[in-house]
Amino acid sequence: MRLMQSRRVIMPVRFEVNGNSVSVDVEPRMTLADCLRHVLRLTGTHVGCEHGVCGACTILIDGAAVRACLMLAVQAEGSEVVTIEGLSNDDALTPLQASFRRHHALQCGFCTPGMITTAHALLSEEPDADADRIREVLSGNLCRCTGYISIIDAVLDARAAYKKPPP
Ligand code: FES
Ligand code: FES
Repeated sequence: MRLMQSRRVIMPVRFEVNGNSVSVDVEPRMTLADCLRHVLRLTGTHVGCEHGVCGACTILIDGAAVRACLMLAVQAEGSEVVTIEGLSNDDALTPLQASFRRHHALQCGFCTPGMITTAHALLSEEPDADADRIREVLSGNLCRCTGYISIIDAVLDARAAYKKPPP
């Protein structure tokens, strides 16, 4: 019997991350979450369940909130990816981050990047979202620490920053 020698397949993929063009060589089976964390060293994207359940890995792809554990890195070809690092500001907290801090909307912080990216995507499209809508959208993000009330309050309080200034 002849044993087949396994060959490691590597594919190039190019996309934009937080405004920078990147080109990486990855195995076709590598998830986008692993690519961001282990290849690009953007460890702000957390990985909890790896099954699309907890929301910790949520990032933005072309403006939409997406679970990076459910997407292959090669599927990001040509996309604009924004991670929690891309929503941060070196000089100051963003209004959403500041609101999370003001409302004590995090404890261990594991869920926080996913909460912030999901809330950012929501408020970018629906700056008038009410508490019910925020609860509905964030229901796919699990938090073991806070009890959620402070998170909802933080997102509600951040809405003003997403409203367009009057003409
Ligand atoms: S790690 Fe992706 S949804 Fe839980
Ligand atoms: S702050 Fe700990 S899981 Fe949400």
